[in-house]
Amino acid sequence: MAVLIVATGNPGKVKEMAAYLASLGWELRLKPPNLEIEETGHTFLENACLKASQVAKATGEWAIADDSGLEVEALNGEPGIYSARYGNCRSDVERTQHLLTKLADHPNRKAQFVCAIAIAQPDGTIALQSEGICLGEILPAPRGNGGFGYDPVFYLPEHQMTFAEMPAELKNAVSHRGKAFTSLIPQLASAN
Ligand code: IMP
Repeated sequence: MAVLIVATGNPGKVKEMAAYLASLGWELRLKPPNLEIEETGHTFLENACLKASQVAKATGEWAIADDSGLEVEALNGEPGIYSARYGNCRSDVERTQHLLTKLADHPNRKAQFVCAIAIAQPDGTIALQSEGICLGEILPAPRGNGGFGYDPVFYLPEHQMTFAEMPAELKNAVSHRGKAFTSLIPQLASAN
């Protein structure tokens, strides 16, 4: 079974990726804990590529990385690649409140979640990449208890629910991350 190192220190992310990639027979492993990669890219894809490439080179194995976040049209794409550290807030609830305060009662509520995924060969060359986008709107106040991050304010009109109100299987199917993995899997199946 081929080994794929996940360029994250978060075991939850390995579990999530393992579920998406279950059909492919790769053995997913966490990156070594002492290997820190700085996210210096300017786009989600640049960050995913540099994380995958550096982890592959350092371990001599195939590596996978993702990078994702929320882009709000009326805020010129903020928080974007800074989604995880927006406003220097310390929690998801504070970051979401910061976003709502910045957006205030702006009439344009359009937003999208973006997820980029990259897979690098052991020499660090990027072998595969994919991107998924999920369109939605920012509600004036949070709704729902599921998910994480900005989920309670991200509303999908066609489902009449926020991400935080959706059953996990539905979110996985329609989300930016789900779409990015769905387009990656056929490419990955032929590379294994
Ligand atoms: P990363 O891809 O784990 O670095 O995610 C970056 C940040 O984007 C997270 O910390 C969240 O704030 C936000 N984010 C990414 N995907 C989601 C999602 O599916 N729901 C809510 N927030 C998300």
